[in-house]
Amino acid sequence: MKPIPYGHQSISEAEIEAVVAALRSDFLTQGPAVERFEQAFGAAVGAPCAVACSSGTAALHLAALAAGLGPGDRVLVPPVTFVATANAARYVGAEVGFADVEGEHATLSVATAETALVEARRAGRPFKAVVTVDLAGHPCDQAGFGRLKDAYGLVWIEDACHALGATWTALSRGAKPAFGAAPGDGKGEALPPSDRPDAGGQPWKVGEWPVPDLTVFSFHPVKHITTGEGGMVTTHLPRLAERVRSLRSHGITRRPGEFVFPEEGRDRDGQPNPWYYEAQALGFNYRLSDLQCALGLAQLARLPGFLARRREIMARYRRELAGLPGFRLLGEGPGVGHAWHLALARVDFAGRDTTRGRVMRQLLERGVATQVHYVPLPMMPLYAGTAAMADLPEALAYYRETLTLPVFPAMTDEEVARVVAAVREVLG
Ligand SMILES: Cc1ncc(COP(=O)(O)O)c(C=O)c1O
Repeated sequence: MKPIPYGHQSISEAEIEAVVAALRSDFLTQGPAVERFEQAFGAAVGAPCAVACSSGTAALHLAALAAGLGPGDRVLVPPVTFVATANAARYVGAEVGFADVEGEHATLSVATAETALVEARRAGRPFKAVVTVDLAGHPCDQAGFGRLKDAYGLVWIEDACHALGATWTALSRGAKPAFGAAPGDGKGEALPPSDRPDAGGQPWKVGEWPVPDLTVFSFHPVKHITTGEGGMVTTHLPRLAERVRSLRSHGITRRPGEFVFPEEGRDRDGQPNPWYYEAQALGFNYRLSDLQCALGLAQLARLPGFLARRREIMARYRRELAGLPGFRLLGEGPGVGHAWHLALARVDFAGRDTTRGRVMRQLLERGVATQVHYVPLPMMPLYAGTAAMADLPEALAYYRETLTLPVFPAMTDEEVARVVAAVREVLG
């Protein structure tokens, strides 16, 4: 029997037909499906600007470039995340620093981030940016990082690759969001957030609150919706969205009003030269194809159902795995709508006189594949020497105990029962 994976896509016949229709259309790439997907996605998360990219990693890279990060800059990231979060800073030549996560949800802690910001300032090597991660689909402390952004003049990129559909309220961490300062670079160019300047206890969607400069999503098959590979950058700052859009496609512009060499772009009679375009910055081919966007559009329509099924499975785990000694599922903070990308558990392997490897093998023998999200980045050879794990005790404690159980919308009730039975048998 094939083991139940920790995550898996859910593709319907209608989605297969949508891709086939795109294959039969005039555009396999750079066609109308791209903008349609971007607009639908922006509407779904409540962001006025959305730019589709070839992966979440590409989206992070473009976000870092658009935000103006480069050589000599320092970027603060959490240690508990996928390596792409930190790599984006390295791609643009910036230096990565780490602050510890908070204990309950393993998202970057505002308190430890602030300590790192203060120390870096004192040492004359201030951080320019922070990249937060909504681990497993639990939003980081949005109001807290909004405050740090203002207080320390930070660029804030939110890595929401786990958090499509997650929500939070001002109550989430007991703080009220500050709307005094203009978001972004302070030039007051942000589009109005929505028709409600203060959530007033109503949930904000991740991507909707206009305080992070840029928010990044991924459409890898294990994520909430998939395009095979794919990603999205959302922002309330049109200038940043334009930069992302341009760098996504070789830094090229075809708009005569933007030409650096306008005399080349026009004929003697002043008419635009039809062939002319300018490469104005070192860009990439990070485009998402029309085939992928057609799939993404169809998947997006099913997002509410996907989220509901994830919630249902998690509620069942919580009921049926309650009371196992040395085992607990990570839950939702108050006021948070968790997107449940991952079902994270903490297991006291040492206290139970076993090892994680052994438990994972025993579960696999029972047809349940589990995972670990994540080996903390400073423990990776690539980031060795950037921080000592002794200075990141919560991340280390989390890593020692974490185990990811399967959760994905296509999981059948029978599969959920199999996971519950296997976990109870191995850890009961
Ligand atoms: C937190 C986080 N950031 C970034 C990425 C990169 O996304 P992608 O795989 O679409 O490049 C992932 C993907 O797994 C992720 O989990």
